Amino acid sequence: MGERNAVGVIGIGWVGLVTAACFAELGNEVVALDVDEAKVAALRRGEVPIHEPGLAELVERNRDRLRYVVAMDEVLERAALLFCCVDTPPTYSGDADLSRVRAVVEQLRDDGRRALVMKSTVPAGTGATIRRELPGLAYVSCPEFLKEGTAVADFMHPDRVVVGADPGDEWAADAVEELYRPLGGEAIRTDIGSAEMIKLASNAFLATKISFINEIANVCEEVGADVVEVARGMGLDQRIGPSFLRAGIGWGGSCFPKDTIALKQLAGNSGYHFQLLTAVIEVNELQKRRVIGKLTKHLGSLVGKRIALLGLAFKPDTDDMREASSLVLVARLQGEGAQVAAYDPVAEDPARELLPTVEFCDSAPSALAGADAAILVTEWPEFRDLDWGEIAKTMATPLVVDGRNFLDPATVRAAGLAYEGIGRNGVID
Ligand code: UDX
Repeated sequence: MGERNAVGVIGIGWVGLVTAACFAELGNEVVALDVDEAKVAALRRGEVPIHEPGLAELVERNRDRLRYVVAMDEVLERAALLFCCVDTPPTYSGDADLSRVRAVVEQLRDDGRRALVMKSTVPAGTGATIRRELPGLAYVSCPEFLKEGTAVADFMHPDRVVVGADPGDEWAADAVEELYRPLGGEAIRTDIGSAEMIKLASNAFLATKISFINEIANVCEEVGADVVEVARGMGLDQRIGPSFLRAGIGWGGSCFPKDTIALKQLAGNSGYHFQLLTAVIEVNELQKRRVIGKLTKHLGSLVGKRIALLGLAFKPDTDDMREASSLVLVARLQGEGAQVAAYDPVAEDPARELLPTVEFCDSAPSALAGADAAILVTEWPEFRDLDWGEIAKTMATPLVVDGRNFLDPATVRAAGLAYEGIGRNGVID
């Protein structure tokens, strides 16, 4: 490994490992650092600690190009571009917690030969502050737009690559652009603050789209329309587009909740009340709870009722439980006196830790046996293949609340169950 020809990756979490493995796949030497010695030791043994499709194969195939270290000196010796991929979780106040970013910055040298490339999602203004502190360290804002479950494909086929830098740091911005060039996506060269805002605004806009369609769904329920049809009709307008218009029981995960609150706080810190985003967040909180009303409409009181949750993860193809709608749902159901059974094909282990009073089952049919209602929480493909006719015979009350509008209402109803979707009052029996 030649001196400073490697790509440095700091923080080997989900973003860091995907970034490291994908840069290695493109033929780069990569030196990746994490402070967690056990994690680094596991990676050196070839173990991949994250559930992300295609990642383990990529890590294995590029073993020779991936070096895992715990000491910053080893990164600084080998790499000029240092991709910062540490996490920035929300603090109690809603502001992003920058302590891990700070810990990285404190170890860097101000010698004019290295660049910190910020992939961690940070409030706009963070880059300018670091730049002032370490004027001899080049700084590039290069936010990530990866989705869990398709992160490797997203990395390899980016819609765009955002590269924000000050005029004096052109060499570093050019080098980052060069690294991404084989992947194709359009490069956006801009200033640091704008790059930081592109990331925050993109996530806030996507969250807004979902909260918007969720409110349209709620209105559809009042007026007797089907939100799936409405979204289809809206999405064909090229100015609107079809994606992120799936109504359901709300968004969750590691990014949307944290980034929307962080942007709202960022605005608030400057004295600006971001009204729209405040509403977007509130709509999402209320949306997670609307299921309760659908249950009581059919069942009356929920005291002593057995409610089966199909899926717990915040979305399919991940075991991530962060800010999953299921967490609020379980609390509300138990608060109403219901007994909650659940099945998730992948997220059971992390879910058990967060939901100790839930009965975990090893299949959907076993969770549904004797249940007064099924709530589809996560749209795992296997739930579409369930034999609803057989399941209806085993349930105490044959009722499905489809929290993701994932099932075919006609099929479920033909199998003898009552079906409630989200915003689907226009769907006729
Ligand atoms: C998101 C962004 O898409 C990604 O660019 C960013 O880097 C990280 O945050 P991710 O959290 O992996 O990615 O999930 P995503 O697929 O965007 O879904 C987020 C949430 O929105 C999920 O809870 C999902 O169920 C929900 N969702 C998504 C809807 O409710 N309706 C939709 O139409 C789309």
